[in-house]
Amino acid sequence: MCGVVGYVGYRKAAPILINGLKRLEYRGYDSAGLVALDKDNQPRRYRGVGRVKNLEKQIQGEDLVATCGISHTRWATHGKPTEGNAHPHADISNKFFVVHNGIIENHAKLRAQLEADGVTFSSETDTEVIVQLVGRNFKGSLEGAVEEVLKVIEGTFGIAVVSSEDPGKIVAARRGSPVVLGIGRDEMFIASDVGALVPYTDQVVYLEDNDLAVMTATDYQVLSFDHVPIKRKTSMIDWTVEEGERGDYPHFMLKEIYEQAETVRNAMRGRVQLSEGVAVLGGLQSKIHQIQHLKKLIIVSCGTSYHAGMIGRHIFENLTEISVEVELASEFRYRRLRLDETVGVIAISQSGETIDTLAAIREARRKGALTIGLVNVVGSTIARETECGVYCHAGPEIGVASTKIFVSQLVILNLMALLIGRYQSVSLSEGINIIKCLQELPDQISGILKNAPRLEELARKYEKFPNCLFIGRQIHHPVALEGALKLKEISYIHAEGYAAGEMKHGPISLIDENFPTLALVSGDASYEKMISNIQEIKARSGPVIIVTSKRTAEMDEFADDVFEVPSTHELLQPILSVVPLQLYSYYCARFRGCEIDKPRNLAKSVTVE
Ligand code: M6R
Repeated sequence: MCGVVGYVGYRKAAPILINGLKRLEYRGYDSAGLVALDKDNQPRRYRGVGRVKNLEKQIQGEDLVATCGISHTRWATHGKPTEGNAHPHADISNKFFVVHNGIIENHAKLRAQLEADGVTFSSETDTEVIVQLVGRNFKGSLEGAVEEVLKVIEGTFGIAVVSSEDPGKIVAARRGSPVVLGIGRDEMFIASDVGALVPYTDQVVYLEDNDLAVMTATDYQVLSFDHVPIKRKTSMIDWTVEEGERGDYPHFMLKEIYEQAETVRNAMRGRVQLSEGVAVLGGLQSKIHQIQHLKKLIIVSCGTSYHAGMIGRHIFENLTEISVEVELASEFRYRRLRLDETVGVIAISQSGETIDTLAAIREARRKGALTIGLVNVVGSTIARETECGVYCHAGPEIGVASTKIFVSQLVILNLMALLIGRYQSVSLSEGINIIKCLQELPDQISGILKNAPRLEELARKYEKFPNCLFIGRQIHHPVALEGALKLKEISYIHAEGYAAGEMKHGPISLIDENFPTLALVSGDASYEKMISNIQEIKARSGPVIIVTSKRTAEMDEFADDVFEVPSTHELLQPILSVVPLQLYSYYCARFRGCEIDKPRNLAKSVTVE
C-alpha cells in the first residue's frame, strides 16, 4: 500500500516521479504528492487529493528543473485523504522531507514528546513524526539523522528522505515494507515496486528489512541501521515496458482477463514432461526429498490467493498423500500451531509483499516448517524469504482485481501436486492425462473469451440488482467465493459466495425475485444436489444464472440463463469456470460506471496489517 518513487540524477526529476507514480497508482490512490529540490536547493512541494493526474495538472507550467526528488501516492491509514495529510511531509523548518509506506506504531507517543518540545504538527498522519525527528537529529549528514530516527520508530516502513541541507542525496530505509533501488548510469531511482523502474533501468537492488540506502546520482551504498556497509546483490527486472501498459484495452482488468490463455502457457512453459506424466519445477528441486515426505501442507494466503489455496487443497488431496489445510494468513500467525520439518507451508501471493502472508511464513520458518513460495513478482520479499518456490511468470498484473494471476496460481498448484503425486500414487497415465488437459486450457480459455458478448448481455440484465449470491460445491465452492469477491470489489454490488449445501442453513432467507444467484454446476457427483438447490431458489422466485461445463435440459428448464464453459479434468475445471465470472463482474462494473482498475478503498499490494 502507498507507492513511493524517488529520483536523483541528471534529468528533470518531476516527470520521472509522475510517471513512476502513475505506474504505482494501484498501490493506493487517494492522494499524491512530490517534492523536488531545485538548483538553488529550494524545496518545491506539491500535494493534492485524488489521483496522480491531479498532481500532474498542478505542476503543469511550473518550471521544475530539479534533478532530485521524492514522491508518493497514498492509501490512507492515519487521517483522511486531504492535502495536509498527503506526502511528502516536511519538518517545521521545511528543509527535510519524507515519503513513507507502512505504519509507525508508536507515533502517538513520539508525537506527544515532540509537541511537548514545541513542535507543531501540520498533519494527522503517523508519518510526520519521522520527518520532525529527522530535522531535530540532523548534524550535517542526512543518513546520520535518519539512523538516529530508525532507533526510535516502531512499526513498518519503507521510507525515502531528502533535505535541502544535504542536497543531491536520497536516504531510504526499509522494515516490513518493500523498497527497491534502481541503478542507472549517473542516475539512481528508488521505488516501492519495480513497476515504477521498468522504463528507466533493468538493474535493481532489493533492500532487506533493516537496510538503509544512501543514493547520489553516481553511487549508492547499503548500510545496516548501525552504519555497517552491507553487500546486496543486483538483480535484473524481467518485465518489459509494454507488459505494464494497457494498449488498446479500456482497462487493465480486461487486458489481463484476455491474457489468460498466454498466462496458462507461461505457467507451464518448460515445466511438464508429457511422456513421463511429470511436472518439472526447478524452484522446488533443492527440497524435493523433504517435500515428498511431508506429512502435512498448510497453504497460507489472502483474498483471491486464498481462494486459489482453497482450490489447491482439493488438488493436493486428490493427487498426493499429504493432508492439507488452508488458512487465511491473517489468522494463521495467531494460532498455536505445531509445526516442524514434516510440515510444508505454501505461501501464495501475487505481489509477494502481502504483510500477513509474509508474517505467516516468518512464523512457520521460526517453528521449523519448510516454507514454499508461489509468487508472481520476482525478487519480492516472500519470494526471497521462502526456502524454495515457483514463480507464476505471468508478467505484471496492474488491475487491482486479480484475474490472470489466480488462473496462473491454479495451474501451478496442479503442477506442484502432480510433481509430488508422481512420487506417490499418481499413475503414469493419470499424470499424462492431467498434462494433456493442461495443454488444452489456453484454447479453451480463448473459446470462452469469444463468448464475452453473452456475458456482457447477462451483466446488462442483472447489474441493476443490488445483491448477488454465488454458489458451488466441492472444488467449485472457492470459485463461487472468487466470483463474489470479483463482483463486489469492482462493481460494489453486494455479493456473497456460499457452499451450496449451506443455502438452507441461512442464506435462502434472502432469496426473492430481486436477489439473483449465480450457480456453478459441474457434471460430477454434486450435480443432483446442485439442481435441487437451484429448484429451491426458483421456488422462491430467485433469478438463477448457471455456469456449467455440462449443460442439461434440466438446467435450461430451471435457470433463467445458462452459460457454458468447456469441460476439462475436474481439478482444472475452476480455471475455466472462473473466466466468465471475471468477465461478468467486469461488465457489471462497467455498466455501473465504476473505476474498474482502481476500486474505492482498495490497493493492489496490502503491506499493512
Ligand atoms: O498479492 P497477494 O496475492 O498476496 O494479495 C492478496 C490479496 O490482497 C489479493 O488477492 C486481493 O484479494 C485481490 N486483489 C482481489 O482481487
